[in-house]
Amino acid sequence: MQRTIKLLKKENELRVIEDELDIYLEIAHLAYAEVKKKDGGMALLFTNVVDKKSGTKFEEPILMNVFGSYRRCELLFGRTIESIADEITKLLHMKPPVGFKDKLSMAGELFSLKNIFPKKLKGEGACQKIKYLEDNIDLHKLPILTTWEQDGGPFITMGQVYTQSLDGELVNLGMYRLQVYDKNHLGMHWQIHKDSSHFFDQYQKAGKKMPVCVAIGGDPLYTWCATAPLPYGVNELLMYGLIKKEPAKLVKSLTTPLYIPQDVDYVIEGWVDTNEIRVEGPFGDHTGYYTLKEPYPVMQVSAITTKKEKVFLATVVGKPPLEDKYMGWATGRIFLPLLKTTAPDLIDYHMPENGGFHNLIIAKMQPHYKGHAKQFMHAFWGAGQMSFVKHAIFLDENAPRLDNYEALATYILDRFTPKSLFISEGILDALDHSSPEILVGGKLGIDSTGAHKVEAPQLLGDEELLQRVQELVPEAVHLHQFMRRTKNPITVISLNKTRNVKECFKALIDLSTHIRVVVFVDEAKNDVYNSYMLIWRVTNNIDAARDIFISGLMLGVDGTNKTALDGFVREWPDDVDCTQSVVDALKQRGIWDLDDATYEKYQL
Ligand SMILES: Cc1cc2nc3c(=O)[nH]c(=O)nc-3n(C[C@H](O)[C@H](O)[C@H](O)COP(=O)(O)O)c2cc1C
Repeated sequence: MQRTIKLLKKENELRVIEDELDIYLEIAHLAYAEVKKKDGGMALLFTNVVDKKSGTKFEEPILMNVFGSYRRCELLFGRTIESIADEITKLLHMKPPVGFKDKLSMAGELFSLKNIFPKKLKGEGACQKIKYLEDNIDLHKLPILTTWEQDGGPFITMGQVYTQSLDGELVNLGMYRLQVYDKNHLGMHWQIHKDSSHFFDQYQKAGKKMPVCVAIGGDPLYTWCATAPLPYGVNELLMYGLIKKEPAKLVKSLTTPLYIPQDVDYVIEGWVDTNEIRVEGPFGDHTGYYTLKEPYPVMQVSAITTKKEKVFLATVVGKPPLEDKYMGWATGRIFLPLLKTTAPDLIDYHMPENGGFHNLIIAKMQPHYKGHAKQFMHAFWGAGQMSFVKHAIFLDENAPRLDNYEALATYILDRFTPKSLFISEGILDALDHSSPEILVGGKLGIDSTGAHKVEAPQLLGDEELLQRVQELVPEAVHLHQFMRRTKNPITVISLNKTRNVKECFKALIDLSTHIRVVVFVDEAKNDVYNSYMLIWRVTNNIDAARDIFISGLMLGVDGTNKTALDGFVREWPDDVDCTQSVVDALKQRGIWDLDDATYEKYQL
């Protein structure tokens, strides 16, 4: 972390904030605002950290937003992301050498591979200079942040969680948030689909306690590796070796059989009693909504060790854009070659930041036969963590660049008919709040690879159309039409909902000569002109099997919050908002510097 701070300073990518700031909301709010600035703002180092409630002043600083820009990401990886993807592509396509020159170059490549395997060192590491054992263990001595007002407590947000299988053969590194319950207990939010959860099942079946080590800091690449969606059984530290061209160097933890990188800043060691389950959450998550209280395993801390001069690394999640936009960008690029092994005619894919990763993916492919795009949809929905994707749009090779949204939306809408839709069901990210049941729900695929003959509607102005809509749907408040130049303009209507939205859609069928795609959102908290946040809201809120309606050429999308009016029986969470009094106080002290227009745009 000290080296990272030096590097960020040298590259003019670090802002040091010396004002006294609280681990409760203040620091997280400032980091949240920073990443909304142009190009992700700066990395932030908070050097005067306090816990106002207990009167604690922490000696260590907190470092945040380290991955929060494309440039910083590549600085921390130490190379371009494309060069990593190219190297993986090369490895995947290695052929037997022909001739001496070929043999030599392959020998070089294979030789460099020996460095990918983590190396176990003897003795203690730099991360074990200071030791807290038994009665000296106290998680409250660490500057662990509370991000949002409704959070269930403080959470470690950039913990590298090291676990191993029951037989010790497989090792895993994953990033899961960890809730602080008291001075020596943490909530382990490894979701049911994740590798450490699979290990947990093995220990539970065997009736044994499970060892866990949570590391914080060290080379930031460990933290990214923890988020990498490698298949079950593959140690994510191999990725570290591949990228760095040198192995991760590990030391044994003091009170568990697990090994951790020797240069991390903190290690929290412990054991999970597989008979104990506690309520975890709520937590304002990267969907921009709170994840609600759920039962999760608990770790009893058996040791905390640290470096002499440690730095606490943290992130903040909430509404996009966030630091994980940049981490996810790196993941997307690096994993493209691997995904191509399952879907060989895939050209590229992209997860727009306001689609919250799994809520929207756009992919370009080379279609070879009828139904090819649908075959890809099934492949995506069956491939590792890609299975969490809720909405996928497939385009052919002639489509514009996947990050040219205006051109892309035109391309899609000019080809779209309700026949392009494919609605299925599958597994969902545990964070999804919209499906009628947790963990499973609707999937929406759009096949934009074919050229359909599409007729344009007869357009009306927003004001006139709103008047006509209000005659049929009196609860409509605002209306705006996007992409009017295309064959399928998108009409967004905000409502004060009084009935199931399908009834509103049916009432509008009389206007089908003027409306093609109609999206309903709640009047509260939505701005019908803000396409960025509307995409965030709607892809979060819909379950395709329930919320998509078709009548002839007209398509309806119910992006409203679901209630008893919709037969929704789960609890619907709030989206995360900054605490106004905290923002006001920071403004008064001259520390808050985000302009009001950006604050409004991203609905902080
Ligand atoms: C900031 C951030 C926080 C995350 N929090 C969690 C979490 O609390 N629980 C979880 O299961 N996954 C979480 N993830 C996603 C996992 O890190 C990711 O799915 C990873 O690939 C899991 O590793 P595994 O496949 O080895 O289990 C988070 C990712 C990021 C970037």
